[in-house]
Amino acid sequence: MTTAPFPDRPRADAREKVLGAARYGADFAIPDMLYAMQVPATVAKGRLTAVPTAAALRIPGVVRVLTATDFPPPAPAIPGAGPPPSMIVADIAYRGQPVALVVAESLEAAIEGAEAIHPVYANSPFATLINSPGAGREPAKRVTAGDANAAMARATTRHKADYVSPAQHHNPMELLSTTAHWKDGVLTVHEGTQSSNLVKGALMRNLRLNAEQVVVKSPQIGGGFGQKGSVQSQTSLVARAAMLLGRPVKMVVPRGQVFHTATFRPKSRHSIELGADASGKISAIRYDADHQASRGGQFGPDYHEHVPQMYGVADYLGTGADIRIDTQDPGYMRCPYPHPAAFAFESAVDELAFKLGEDPVAFRLKHRATVDPLNGKPLSSNFLNDCISEGARRFGWDKRGLAPGSMRLPDGTQIGWGVGCGAYPAITHVSIATLRIRADGTARFAVAGHEMGQGLRSVLTQVLVRDLAIEPTGLELAIGDTSAAPQHTTAGSWGTASGAPVAAEAAAKLNAAMIELLAGRTVAGNLHQQLAAIRRPYLEIEVSHAGPGQGVKDLAALRGGGYAIAGPEYPDFTTFSYIAHFVEVRVEPRTRRIRVPRVVSVVDCGRVISPRTAESQVRGGVIWGISAALREATDTDPRYGGWLNNDLADYVVAVNADIGDIEVGMIDKPDPQMNALGVKGLGEVAMAGVSGAVANAIFHATGKRLREMPFRIEDLL
Ligand code: MOS
Repeated sequence: MTTAPFPDRPRADAREKVLGAARYGADFAIPDMLYAMQVPATVAKGRLTAVPTAAALRIPGVVRVLTATDFPPPAPAIPGAGPPPSMIVADIAYRGQPVALVVAESLEAAIEGAEAIHPVYANSPFATLINSPGAGREPAKRVTAGDANAAMARATTRHKADYVSPAQHHNPMELLSTTAHWKDGVLTVHEGTQSSNLVKGALMRNLRLNAEQVVVKSPQIGGGFGQKGSVQSQTSLVARAAMLLGRPVKMVVPRGQVFHTATFRPKSRHSIELGADASGKISAIRYDADHQASRGGQFGPDYHEHVPQMYGVADYLGTGADIRIDTQDPGYMRCPYPHPAAFAFESAVDELAFKLGEDPVAFRLKHRATVDPLNGKPLSSNFLNDCISEGARRFGWDKRGLAPGSMRLPDGTQIGWGVGCGAYPAITHVSIATLRIRADGTARFAVAGHEMGQGLRSVLTQVLVRDLAIEPTGLELAIGDTSAAPQHTTAGSWGTASGAPVAAEAAAKLNAAMIELLAGRTVAGNLHQQLAAIRRPYLEIEVSHAGPGQGVKDLAALRGGGYAIAGPEYPDFTTFSYIAHFVEVRVEPRTRRIRVPRVVSVVDCGRVISPRTAESQVRGGVIWGISAALREATDTDPRYGGWLNNDLADYVVAVNADIGDIEVGMIDKPDPQMNALGVKGLGEVAMAGVSGAVANAIFHATGKRLREMPFRIEDLL
């Protein structure tokens, strides 16, 4: 089954969001609630020798101060998965680590109490930069196809360079927060998380609770971006306080602390060598990446994993290494690996094309991949070349002068046009859903998935409204709630490819159940009216969906609170989403300020389910790619550890005035092997390759090749 394109439709939750009625994690005000604030460590490494609490306890309103002795010992690691974030412990692993939690009747008292706590530390030597003494380099897994060294030796043209992507921090509008309530032996946690299942599991393990004792609810998230995809450190602290005090406790982590305690995008270095053969195509790739890692963190240096697959290069050798230093754990941040990797790789491809005297669009078009070089499997769909050709047409690429510095305005402003492409693995997660249609005009669809603004509710609504005769305004989408349906971690661009097919299957099953219920009777009206006519209050079905090659075992893992993704390699094929970005930069002649007046991005994400939110996703990815290329970097304090620019005044992000025209195109061709609707995935691929396109445009404008982000005025002086 392949489907017709879906119509444009407003966001399913637009109205409630505009009215301020959508409730986020910190919006839950529970009677008798207490407020918490954590105390951050002021040393980079060491041990707490004393945490005097008397001064804090004298502050009116302070109810209790929790220190390391108030928490169970750290949970044991489960093989294959790390331990959950530890609670308050005496060993300090990074500057900013919470060392105490002050709980008070008001937020003001909690803050005042936290400021009154001055722990005593035994300091240890530490390493905070990847080249500090004491930084430990650990090689990670390699990826190989064919024989890259032999192919490189045969190459007729070679390009080799190093590229650097800085440490960056996510700054979603919604801060990290936890509101916890312990009542009648059940812990209920309201928190903006992409992973209510992982939060639940961490609470169970840290606080020694069973599955029936923990409920996590995350109905709306004000920006996830991967920061809210793993369990952050405040959750168990707040929950423990709620359990000890028997009252609800809320904590919103201040932005300055989010920089220090939340996961972040680590600094990464990419050493790339490309070889081209006599036909002028890429024939060999060497890609060696390393990055900043914490001492015990599990976020691997996987930048090199998917590089050869985009252009189908048969001879490839990729390596990665962790450089372990004294920092908090880095982690997923939108387009976690392909963003830095595509910046480096798409810059390198551009440099090779220039060396060969080739137009960078024509050069890329020569490399259409049909087979996955890592395993020999066919690619189920690959419309990258359609993205490139359509983007070039919309952008007006044929009017581009080949030579750098060849396009300028009368005032001397240099104009550059650059292209950059990206690929992101098309991943799917098993889903279990229940659909209930009621005679009173309402309906409820409960499924795995979290709404972080990307449009999951709009996606589910599109499918259900297309396939079911129901009242759309009465449709409740119960997502992100561990008590409504088994939840997955909604990340890695698998939300739509996992949620849309299960919605379609639920609708089909419900329609079949209705036919069976009617048993040949003809009843007029929509499903609600039909149920009312036959005096049935409701009809409910349960359905599950598994991706290609997945089955009973994966569904059992989901029911058990586990993780069950598949892809991009499936039993019979490999699948990616693709994008091509075309960027114009203008470099002002005196100040050397870089502006980006327009971008055209064309994406192949399989079938587009919700055009409105899909286009918005691409815009968001493009904006962040520009911001990453020109603005964002977090600077480490080498003297004391921690981060220097830990607020939005000093951590500079692109603002409205930095963003020009962004035109988004969708290939919108279904990939029927991936699932019946033909969905691949979109959120992450949107950002892949944008920064490379910016770098390539700057080279085209100025003749200067910038290989370390962010690119700032001083780089072009
Ligand atoms: Mo994404 S960075 O996997 O939420």
